[in-house]
Amino acid sequence: MDRTPYGQPSDRIDSLREQFPVLAEWAYLNAGTDGPLPAVATQAAAEELEHQSRTGRTSAHFEHRHELADALRSSYSELLGCVPAELALTTCTSEGISLVVQGLGLGPGDEILTSDQEHPGLLGAIQAARDLCGAQVRLAALGDLPAAVGPNTKLLACSHVSWVSGELAPNTLAAVADSVPILLDGAQGVGAIEVDVRALGCHAYSGAGQKWLCGPDGLGMLYVSGELQERLAVVRRGYGNFEAATEGLDAHVHPDARRFDCFGLSAEAIACALAALGVLEDAGWQDVHRRALQLADTLVERLAKCGRVVAPRGESTLVSFSSVDPAAERVRLAERGIVLRDIPNQPLLRASVGAWNNEQDLDRLIDGLGAGQ
Ligand SMILES: Cc1ncc(COP(=O)(O)O)c(C=O)c1O
Repeated sequence: MDRTPYGQPSDRIDSLREQFPVLAEWAYLNAGTDGPLPAVATQAAAEELEHQSRTGRTSAHFEHRHELADALRSSYSELLGCVPAELALTTCTSEGISLVVQGLGLGPGDEILTSDQEHPGLLGAIQAARDLCGAQVRLAALGDLPAAVGPNTKLLACSHVSWVSGELAPNTLAAVADSVPILLDGAQGVGAIEVDVRALGCHAYSGAGQKWLCGPDGLGMLYVSGELQERLAVVRRGYGNFEAATEGLDAHVHPDARRFDCFGLSAEAIACALAALGVLEDAGWQDVHRRALQLADTLVERLAKCGRVVAPRGESTLVSFSSVDPAAERVRLAERGIVLRDIPNQPLLRASVGAWNNEQDLDRLIDGLGAGQ
């Protein structure tokens, strides 16, 4: 997928920044919430809608939607290191997570093991399994999860990259993959760092299109291994995931991961997502990942020099650091054109560093932090 041999940064990585209008004005360090949108992506969405308004939405429109969906499935599966038959298109990370947790049909006596730094997108699905179905929940530190698997653990669900600190799931997860299904929340993983679902040893990986892939809101992906596909109940069925919808109540869902597809993805959203992926692919994924990680490391050094304590993190693109009053400081920084987020209930601000950022964005952040003191 990467057109640049490793070790030789493409020229395009240097001009990547120019593709994102928001960066002309803002030091935008918030891809962990929503990535910056490239100009060609908004244009692709507008052109798609304009075409629909001129030609109407006939059967050709529905065929076109299917073609776009196939193209997106193929691009997303390349990014995760799986095949299209293992990838469902969803609206967001949280939706994919819910499909897996619900589909396992866990109940009394079944334990879900998760970490103590999970996002509501994962916690919500676990809460529903506990409150509606009687499953038990146990927490452990992210790094301790493999060792914490017990005889009643029927699902291990955690972040690939923690949204709080940028810590990574332990690379020993794969060692327990034979004894328990592993679901990774990849909201802060895919697009930000290299992902290989096979090397991670997970059975399901749910990711977002609107964050590190710079796509529109309303698109995401869910990898489900062939083995887990067999075990998961398909809890929603309809025109969108039947193989032949003409068979009424006897219709079958698709034989592969398309059975978990969301029903109503729009052509304009998919066209927008594909155009955004094209921008990142052209820059070269290895360069995109490497540059973001290098910039994040530079930010860590600079924060330390100005007395901020950086939360323990892994090789990720998130940098969370100490702030006495994070919400107020976030607002103060936004007034100076610097966009990042605070972490609720923690004395932390979080910068999301992408390959589209540059040293000047970091300068602005460091200056902005100093100005408030
Ligand atoms: C770790 C993590 N999981 C889940 C989510 C929710 O993502 P989505 O809006 O794609 O459902 C987020 C969003 O920030 C996140 O950081």
